[in-house]
Amino acid sequence: MSAAIQNAVKKALNEKTIWQRVVTSTLDTLRPSAKALHPILMPVLDRLSMHRVHKAVNIEDLRNAAQQRAHPMVYAYLDGGSGDERSLKRSIDSFSQLQWKHAVLHGIGNNGVNTETTILGKKYAMPYFLTSCAGQRMFHADGEVATAQAANKHNLHMALSQLTTSSFQDVRNAHEGAKTLQLYVWKDRALLKDILDRAKEAGFENLALTADFSWVGNREREVRNDFTIPPSYSLQQCVAAVTRLPWAYDFASREPYRYQAVPEAKFPATSLAKFIAEQMKPEFNWTDAEWLCKEWGNQGKVVLKGVIREDDAERAIKSGFDALWISNHGGRQLEDAISPIVQLPNIRARVGSGAEIIVDGGIRRGSDVVKAIALGANSVAIGRAYLYGLTAGGYTGVDKALQIINTDVKLTMGLMGYSSINNINGKDIIVPRDWQ
Ligand SMILES: Cc1cc2nc3c(=O)[nH]c(=O)nc-3n(C[C@H](O)[C@H](O)[C@H](O)COP(=O)(O)O)c2cc1C
Repeated sequence: MSAAIQNAVKKALNEKTIWQRVVTSTLDTLRPSAKALHPILMPVLDRLSMHRVHKAVNIEDLRNAAQQRAHPMVYAYLDGGSGDERSLKRSIDSFSQLQWKHAVLHGIGNNGVNTETTILGKKYAMPYFLTSCAGQRMFHADGEVATAQAANKHNLHMALSQLTTSSFQDVRNAHEGAKTLQLYVWKDRALLKDILDRAKEAGFENLALTADFSWVGNREREVRNDFTIPPSYSLQQCVAAVTRLPWAYDFASREPYRYQAVPEAKFPATSLAKFIAEQMKPEFNWTDAEWLCKEWGNQGKVVLKGVIREDDAERAIKSGFDALWISNHGGRQLEDAISPIVQLPNIRARVGSGAEIIVDGGIRRGSDVVKAIALGANSVAIGRAYLYGLTAGGYTGVDKALQIINTDVKLTMGLMGYSSINNINGKDIIVPRDWQ
């Protein structure tokens, strides 16, 4: 264990209040019996939520189901953005500003639509994938493994967050197509190298460096709902848990969630969360990024996630990145950050047709995926759209979210008159309406 980790452990062990110790030890005592009863009780407790999942006809329905199952602080973390959440709302609204000009009498039938495309060098069934989102066992105890299983079923690419609560290996075992590991910028290069080595060992081929998270955004909804990871067992958190029994029981009867980024650290999750927060390095710059690209070597592609400006896009390519990922972190960082879809045509124009571009932010429908491709993205990443499903119903919920999006991608292509996703060219088919 490195000295930095040992210090974090010592600090955390001294910081627990008596109330926290009481709740933690009560939960530890009850966990084995709760675990034994899990196969019988959980399906009963989850019945209503699963009913909502089955009845869902769109992502908004899954969002409502997620809100009704998740602990309020967890839902605040999942659904919220920074400040007044203007960036978050605008990123979604920007898609409704785009209008199609569709062809008619194009003769494309139900079996004539091909959605396959290449993402970071590998072929997948759809031009979208499941993006890296932290702490998924917090949303549902099956976490990233459930996400990976659903992505596997639909042959979709998946990027795993460095702040995963399931192990690298478990996720890779659940889905071979989970080939991208997303990385944050950490101070301790030795630790970072260790993570890179383990990622290579686990079979990750691509690395996505998230560059827009060196400072943490002002998430007011999280503060209001007393969000902490792991739970601090404050009175507010304990009272709120009682209002969400299926979530609370699932949490109490399973292995407590913790970040898996530092696996040898068998210390309390509180210390790990703090340690990780302290590891974020706002000073990380282009020179560090170039170091990272070299460190990853020929393993696969290196992607820069969080690009918004044209000059940064250009510089990223010059610095050795293989692909650009346009994102405002789901409206969770800089309030009033521009919608990624608005910047997509500008960045495409600057870097030319040869550069691989991914875009995310605000995608809630299959038609949004097709719009992004039409405007010049090679692929599209979805975040909350699948997390709502995971939160509401674990694997079944993610599967449902993916079914909804897949159906809509195909329907949009059929109605537009496009037989292949790779032939969609936005120039003459998409018109911005009052686009700011
Ligand atoms: C709950 C949550 C956790 C996230 N965690 C991460 C993360 O660990 N790493 C990362 O690069 N981005 C993270 N993001 C941002 C997503 O990767 C993605 O950029 C964003 O969710 C896209 O917007 P959308 O949710 O509207 O689809 C997170 C987003 C959410 C909603």
